[in-house]
Amino acid sequence: MKVRKAVIVAAGLGTRMLPASKVIPKEILPVVDTPAVQLIVEEAVASGIEDIVVVLSPGRTLVLDHFRPAEDLEEHLLRKGKHEALSALRTSSFAARFHTAHQHQPLGLGHAVLQARERIGNEPFGLFLPDDIVDAPRPCLRQLIEVAERRDAPVIALLRVPRSEVSKYGIVEAKPMGDRLYELTGMVEKPGPEHAPSDLAIIGRYVLTPDVFELLAEGKPGAGGEIQLTDALLGLAKRRKIYGYEFEGVRYDIGDRAGYVMAQVGFGLKRPDVADRLRAYLEQVIAPKSRMGQ
Ligand code: UTP
Repeated sequence: MKVRKAVIVAAGLGTRMLPASKVIPKEILPVVDTPAVQLIVEEAVASGIEDIVVVLSPGRTLVLDHFRPAEDLEEHLLRKGKHEALSALRTSSFAARFHTAHQHQPLGLGHAVLQARERIGNEPFGLFLPDDIVDAPRPCLRQLIEVAERRDAPVIALLRVPRSEVSKYGIVEAKPMGDRLYELTGMVEKPGPEHAPSDLAIIGRYVLTPDVFELLAEGKPGAGGEIQLTDALLGLAKRRKIYGYEFEGVRYDIGDRAGYVMAQVGFGLKRPDVADRLRAYLEQVIAPKSRMGQ
């Protein structure tokens, strides 16, 4: 299989990020100075993706507006000799073709993915949940694509989480195959720690095969009246082998307030133009307290 297309689902309500997400889709909120969705598109392009389908709720087009060329602004920056700002404006993001699909009501992640069916057609595809930002030596989706193409099978990104946090995630039942790879035998959505089949959580990167659309289309609303992707993946696992891959990298959940702030710090500390002042500030606010605690 060859993975050339990807879906970014961005039609959720983002209630955990209110009031910021009232007017501005959370996918546009910046990590340091870069909208989250741009980081996602850069990961897609670096993973070899050529076509990106963005699933939006109707009328919320800001997410795509970000990728339209801004000719007047570019001209202005050029005239003023602001080359740094100009190169920040022109990003690798434009190396992909963008397509839109609409989800008219937020009926769940599975339902959002189903809206991309026509645009994806009969091909395997990458799936991004843009809440999950992964800072990795090799793009996270690329890591999954390599496994998927080798095994000719769907692959899901896995993250080992503390037992006390398993109830926030979909948790897999998995058979280790070595080299970070697992064969998936089951999945449970948000289990209590006592019922969790493992401590391996599903995060927002997948490589899926188009047969998942059939299962999503047949899917009945499950927990919370939503069409769940997990239910379709469970169906898929009955038909064919599905793998999980414990990706290399650091993941931030920016759909969550604390995770959002952590991403600012994590990415800020890696930015030469920000790191020194940020580190000095963090030391100033944290060190006196931790010394007192010693
Ligand atoms: P979340 O579970 O974070 O839901 O969705 P949400 O609505 O965005 O946010 P909260 O929980 O209310 O704060 C994970 C991803 O799936 C997309 C979201 O946009 C997000 O990228 N999604 C979710 C949809 O596109 N449509 C849906 O109906 C649900």
